[in-house]
Amino acid sequence: MPAAAAPLVQEVRERVLVFALVLGETEDHGLIFFHAGEDTSFSTMTTTPALPGCTVVAHPLVRHKMALLRDRATPTKLFQELVSELATLLAYEATQQLALAPIEVTTPLETTPGERLATPPILVPILRAGLGMVDGIRALIPDARVGHIGLYRDHDSLAPVEYYFKVPPGIATHDVFLLDPMLATGGSAANAVTALKRSGATRLTFLCLVAAPEGVRRLHAEHPDVPIFTAALDRELNTHGYILPGLGDAGDRLFGTK
Ligand code: PRP
Ligand code: URA
Repeated sequence: MPAAAAPLVQEVRERVLVFALVLGETEDHGLIFFHAGEDTSFSTMTTTPALPGCTVVAHPLVRHKMALLRDRATPTKLFQELVSELATLLAYEATQQLALAPIEVTTPLETTPGERLATPPILVPILRAGLGMVDGIRALIPDARVGHIGLYRDHDSLAPVEYYFKVPPGIATHDVFLLDPMLATGGSAANAVTALKRSGATRLTFLCLVAAPEGVRRLHAEHPDVPIFTAALDRELNTHGYILPGLGDAGDRLFGTK
């Protein structure tokens, strides 16, 4: 254990589980500590201090489904279903801060105070693969409206190329959840956040299923105000910008294009 990590381990003592994951990057000790939130179960685990701003949702159901998702033998239909189900589970964790407004509810017996979402969030999938996450979140939040950002990575430079942008009105006043299963170099996500901010968005959250440390660092460096929720934090990128161990090309696997 590096000396720099000792105070943190000391601080959390036996109250929490600490897992250390060596990423092989000595400049920041490559350590990630997963620990539970103060008043929650162990389902949400926050990464500190190497990757601030990134929450790994490590619920057993998420981990079970992620293993199926990664499997190269998983067929397109099951892959689609898993992406959708994982998006639902991720959204449950990522929406904990949504504002509520008081309402009065009439039960069959009497009236009682209740609450509703103050403003339903706006979902913005990055095309193509982000589309696979929309229905799973709308199952939880049927009132959520949906914008779209079309981006693809240039094969050689890996830089994102934007080809479509349309968001609903209210982008400046609603919570916006940006969706893409893959956070690799972080170029696409950072570019999409910049475009959304340009059109007025202020409260943004990024949801993905697999993140590479490189992508988390880049998105956080360019947009430190945007929390990142991921179902898995993987080891690294290969020389072609693919996440290892990853799950391959998410768009191709979702839509059967390869
Ligand atoms: C994939 C993925 C992300 C992007 C991530 O899309 O869905 O949008 O790559 O890579 P990055 O973090 O390095 O930018 P892709 O460019 O393959 O487009 P597609 O979904 O249309 O196939
Ligand atoms: N996009 C994908 O679909 N997969 C990766 O591993 C990286 C970028």
